[in-house]
Amino acid sequence: MNLWNTKRVFGFLTVVFLVHSLSGALSSVVALGPDVICNGILGLYPRQRNICREKPESIVTIWEGIQKGVRECQYQFKNGRWNCTSYPTRDSQFFPDLPKGTRESAYLRAITSAGVTHAITQACSRGNLTNCSCDRSKNTMITDDGWQWGGCSADISYGLRFSRLFVDASHPSDNAKGLMNVHNNEVGRKIVADNMEMECKCHGVSGSCTMQTCWTTLPSFRRVGDILKRKYENSYQVEQVGRSGRNRKLILKIKKTNRKPKHSHLVFLENSPTYCEFDPEYGSLGTVGRKCNHTSTDTDHCELMCCGRGYNTHQYTRTWQCNCKFLWCCTVRCNECSENTEEYTCK
Ligand SMILES: *[C@@H]1O[C@H](CO)[C@@H](O)[C@H](O)[C@H]1NC(C)=O
Ligand SMILES: *[C@@H]1O[C@H](CO)[C@@H](O)[C@H](O)[C@H]1NC(C)=O
Ligand SMILES: *[C@@H]1O[C@H](CO)[C@@H](O)[C@H](O)[C@H]1NC(C)=O
Ligand SMILES: *[C@@H]1O[C@H](CO)[C@@H](O)[C@H](O)[C@H]1NC(C)=O
Repeated sequence: MNLWNTKRVFGFLTVVFLVHSLSGALSSVVALGPDVICNGILGLYPRQRNICREKPESIVTIWEGIQKGVRECQYQFKNGRWNCTSYPTRDSQFFPDLPKGTRESAYLRAITSAGVTHAITQACSRGNLTNCSCDRSKNTMITDDGWQWGGCSADISYGLRFSRLFVDASHPSDNAKGLMNVHNNEVGRKIVADNMEMECKCHGVSGSCTMQTCWTTLPSFRRVGDILKRKYENSYQVEQVGRSGRNRKLILKIKKTNRKPKHSHLVFLENSPTYCEFDPEYGSLGTVGRKCNHTSTDTDHCELMCCGRGYNTHQYTRTWQCNCKFLWCCTVRCNECSENTEEYTCK
């Protein structure tokens, strides 16, 4: 059973990461029982398959978390030559990844791991998972501002633990890429945990707000995506030292002082390709056929996007409803406006 959204691109069978929601389909599969769903998902490692069998309902939430991450990644990179799509590899079937340890792989690992943490924590608060709920441990205590903790605080520590258990299980840490992935997964999780927010609600006579109860909430996922994008731009190159067991670790490549990278920095092993050309070794689809913008000052400018190969121009007329007026009573009358526009795609 292949649950993935597959599509033919350039004549190759290409998994375009999770563009469409499969949660509906997955929910009905969950009803078939853990063995059917957990054996049916491609690309799960034995430890993940065991977690899946123990908590089959969580697999839907994990899947939603991964999609949340991929959608955010595609939003953040929509104007880039790499637009968060990849030529698939065996390992990218459940957790999307790129075959080489580039900065783009670092972002993708961090944002999907953050997505799983976010989605699991959210599902706990909504009562959607059997093994967790709200974090009420602080209720009755007093906040720094002198208000009372109360209500449903997001149980981020459960989300973190679960994501570590499940997401990190896809990376054997006996090679540099595995170490890199585990590091970047943790960076993604930490961004969610470090940006938890506090929400409060007023009580008291007719909204006088003499009392408030407060609880912690998750940051918006856009915020997580934005912060990680800045970390992507300032990521650090690392290399592996040590051959076996606990000796194996990553150190910063520029500093010759054996320094370990910080837990707040994204790390990568290899420099990125240009993503101009199709190159399965790097998971690059190339930019042939990509839309570009003649006047943009961003990376979607045609010169940059098309790597100097030039572009095709398509002219078409765009029409839409405009100058709409509400007429008493009760119709809306509009004019039809149109405009000649051009669209550019890379050669
Ligand atoms: C579980 O999540 C779904 C959407 O993901 C929602 O429609 C449903 O109401 C939730 N169930 C509970 C018990 O909150
Ligand atoms: C989840 O449930 C299992 C039993 O099904 C239990 O052993 C475990 O401690 C629970 N974990 C949490 C975090 O509640
Ligand atoms: C990303 O680019 C590829 C070609 O490089 C294209 O096929 C795909 O539709 C694009 N995806 C998105 C989400 O823009
Ligand atoms: C192209 O870029 C310009 C400048 O950033 C922007 O105003 C315009 O909306 C863009 N056009 C399209 C089709 O995205």
